[in-house]
Amino acid sequence: MIIDIAADPAAGITSAVEALGRGAVIAVPTETVYGLAADATNEAAVAQIFEIKRRPSFNPLICHCSDLEMVSAFATLDPVSLRLAERFWPGPMTLVLNSKPGRLPPVTTAGLTTVAIRIPMGFSNGLIRAYGRPLAAPSANISGRVSATTAAHVESEFGDGVPLIFDGGPTKIGVESTILRVCENGIELLRPGGLPIELVEHAAGLQVSAPNLFKVLAPGMLTSHYAPRAMVRLNATRVGPGETLLKFGDAIVPGEGACARVFNLSPEGGLEEFAAKLYATLKEADDAGAESIAIVPIPDEGLGLAINDRLRRAAAPRTLTLGELEQAAVRSKEAR
Ligand code: TXA
Ligand code: MG
Repeated sequence: MIIDIAADPAAGITSAVEALGRGAVIAVPTETVYGLAADATNEAAVAQIFEIKRRPSFNPLICHCSDLEMVSAFATLDPVSLRLAERFWPGPMTLVLNSKPGRLPPVTTAGLTTVAIRIPMGFSNGLIRAYGRPLAAPSANISGRVSATTAAHVESEFGDGVPLIFDGGPTKIGVESTILRVCENGIELLRPGGLPIELVEHAAGLQVSAPNLFKVLAPGMLTSHYAPRAMVRLNATRVGPGETLLKFGDAIVPGEGACARVFNLSPEGGLEEFAAKLYATLKEADDAGAESIAIVPIPDEGLGLAINDRLRRAAAPRTLTLGELEQAAVRSKEAR
């Protein structure tokens, strides 16, 4: 059932709190994408998230908190993380922090000694505050697929598998949070996302760099992720007959007169607008039966970093080899 929270936000929070209290999994809007949420301290409820999402159990969840006081009950904040937290929370940033032992069940953190934490904005923030405990919430999609940015997308992804979907309209940012880990030599970027790294570097006075991939298991380690059903072709400078075209800016793309369908996500060339519409457009193209989606080049700066990261994964080969899965499992063991 989809519940419109704009109509009566207080009633929405009351029924969400009730559902969380009995260990249910619910779908809630955040400013980035919709999340599939359960009480992060309730082992059975979190286990259900993994089942519904068909997510490998070695892939840990983000714990969503309402404020810094709640964060510090579950994790320790080093001085740089604290500075970033004060500057960018609530907002589209996730910090991987050292967890306080014994506060969260291992199912939530995949048994790691670190925990990914974020303070979201809007309805989900008010909900966590009212509930009084953190929510474990991955993006509301079947593992490996495009994240949902509308309540209708969540419903079409899970059907009755998620009985309560709280509808806050299309999400504002449209790509997932930026995931960071502060370490001795600076800040590692585990996943580019809704918070541009230029802003992070400016606030911290430190460089943000690529992580040591053998140390951390993050979502991007699985090559294909955020993928629509259609094939995806990147940096397209022309479009073939029968292809679906995703445009950025108003320049004519050779072949567009004869292609199957054209979506212009931002005629004015705004990365924010493109990011906000990206997943819903991929979903719409899929639903219309697109076989191949051609996407024009997107600048690699600001939100473009997150957009290009998702597009590369959407375009990656779909079947994981057994070798890739085994490697991921080994890295996950090493990370523990
Ligand atoms: O915007 C977002 O971050 C959304 C909304 C719902 O908050 N959530 C989201 O969650 O994208 P999810 O589970 O789809 O992606 C979070 C990723 C996971 O794939 C996981 O690999 C990584 O964060 N992660 C979680 N805990 C981690 C940890 N301790 N160390 C490294 N990576 C971690
Ligand atoms: Mg996800």
